[in-house]
Amino acid sequence: MKLLEATEKNIKIAADVLKSEGLVAFPTETVYGLGADGLNPIAVAKIFEAKERPTFNPLILHVSSIEMLNNIAEIKNEKITQLTEKFWPGALTLILHKKEIVPYIVTSGLETVAVRMPDNKVALELIKNIGKPIAAPSANSFGRLSPTSAEHVANQLGEKVDIILDGGKCNIGVESTILEITETGNYLLRPGGIPKEDIEKIIGKVIIKGSDIENPNSPGQLKIHYAPKIPIYFYSKKIIEENKNKKVGGIFFSEIKNDSLFEVTKVLSKSGDFKEAASNLFNTLHNFENRNLDLILVEPIKKVSLGTAIMDRLTKAVNKYK
Ligand code: TXA
Ligand code: MG
Repeated sequence: MKLLEATEKNIKIAADVLKSEGLVAFPTETVYGLGADGLNPIAVAKIFEAKERPTFNPLILHVSSIEMLNNIAEIKNEKITQLTEKFWPGALTLILHKKEIVPYIVTSGLETVAVRMPDNKVALELIKNIGKPIAAPSANSFGRLSPTSAEHVANQLGEKVDIILDGGKCNIGVESTILEITETGNYLLRPGGIPKEDIEKIIGKVIIKGSDIENPNSPGQLKIHYAPKIPIYFYSKKIIEENKNKKVGGIFFSEIKNDSLFEVTKVLSKSGDFKEAASNLFNTLHNFENRNLDLILVEPIKKVSLGTAIMDRLTKAVNKYK
């Protein structure tokens, strides 16, 4: 594995690796992606291998232009164009009808494909350089924390990836919002970097699809996901009482409570800004899971704006230790 600064020259080197069926981890505005040539099934298979990801989980194709989008997907609905005009490049993934050129390994056999245009210069340059969409899940091992820095990727995937392009910390820090539009309505498959409220301003009511363990088209919909290695619970007086003599890490939204009970604490956003909180979330969890702690307590936050995406990730992490 080579950890390279994301310079123009190194992006070209990374593109060559992708062209020869290699794996490149790269920054996006949401989280780091583990990329492969999205139209080459062999290359894409390496993603599943590196992530130890169950193959039933389909991947997102990342494009750098609308022309590239039109090569891989059928746009049958005017709302899609409205959304791409408003939110792309950005943290919105759209589920669309796939064209034949998209290998089924990308979609796990589905006739639909997930597509987004990332709002990150390095990512866009990399895609332009290979001239094809890049298939990329978040660059973590399956079920583990999503990476928001090159270091996170190196720690989790190490030698399983050929190149990691270091483009600094991700701006948004939670994954993209996933949306599917059908004849029957607009469905939110995963809350993420673009709030549902903002989407509703453009296309009207968006319905939240409940989690479906039997048919996890969107592992964002699995009940357990995004878990740190040490137990994590929501902060409550009762839990604090029960763990008095333990080494506890505390994660708070805007203000620390009961400071003296914690070995280490972190405030996600002093000013109570959801965007800032989201961008610090995975970073903090990575940091805490590598300390010598017995457990992590995290304060539940309000489910508005990006708070919904943050609570979605936290709830799944907490569910693992219930
Ligand atoms: O922000 C993001 O979306 C990051 C960056 C790297 O772009 N990527 C990411 O990928 O989070 P991943 O693989 O961790 O999550 C992709 C989600 C999964 O929940 C997958 O099931 C869902 O997209 N998905 C992909 N194709 C789908 C499809 N055809 N129908 C329904 N869900 C789909
Ligand atoms: Mg993921």
